[in-house]
Amino acid sequence: MRILGINGSPHKNGNTYKLISEIFRGASENNHQCEVVHLVDLHLDYCNWCGECWEATPGVCPIDDGFMEHLKQLFEADVLIVATPSSNRSVTGYMKNWLDRFCSSQLIYEVDEDKHVTKRSRVPGGKKAIIIVQGCTDSFQETIEPINVVMNVLEIPVVERLIVAKVGLTEEDTVDKRPEVMHRAFQIGRSLK
Ligand SMILES: Cc1cc2nc3c(=O)[nH]c(=O)nc-3n(C[C@H](O)[C@H](O)[C@H](O)COP(=O)(O)O)c2cc1C
Repeated sequence: MRILGINGSPHKNGNTYKLISEIFRGASENNHQCEVVHLVDLHLDYCNWCGECWEATPGVCPIDDGFMEHLKQLFEADVLIVATPSSNRSVTGYMKNWLDRFCSSQLIYEVDEDKHVTKRSRVPGGKKAIIIVQGCTDSFQETIEPINVVMNVLEIPVVERLIVAKVGLTEEDTVDKRPEVMHRAFQIGRSLK
């Protein structure tokens, strides 16, 4: 099985990545193939609502910034780990932009004469998602919701949500000092089938 971690933190070795890696460590016990994408490295442009991916070239984004190559990776993965720190109670800008690009290009949105909207996903079936959200408070409803919405609309079932509160208030306050949390992440990875 292919597992792709999407790290929405600007820190490539921060708490978000540490949790992704621990899921990978668990998953490696069953020889699953694991790979991470740090969104900070992708330098994705913003969705500019040109609409070409809906009409002229369905499913294909015309912005020439590597997003379509990244999409190939997404399509090949069996499990997506969608992971973000909480930032001003929402996802980070990196994650919001990724969600926008993924959703806009991969959602089939049809409106009939009565303005009845039908939504379908272009994403190949059979995938599942794990969501990771963490931060220094204990309030994550607004952070997790944009990810829930996009996974739901793209018909990717969310099988696990790892939510870690009260971490990352200082640089010393790292998630690897929380054995119960690391154990949970490891178990999530190990139980992937
Ligand atoms: C600009 C900024 C805004 C933040 N906003 C929140 C927030 O709204 N809620 C929260 O719980 N943590 C917030 N945090 C704390 C981070 O989510 C926390 O430090 C997290 O562990 C960082 O993850 P990382 O190490 O993967 O980057 C914020 C941090 C920064 C720098």
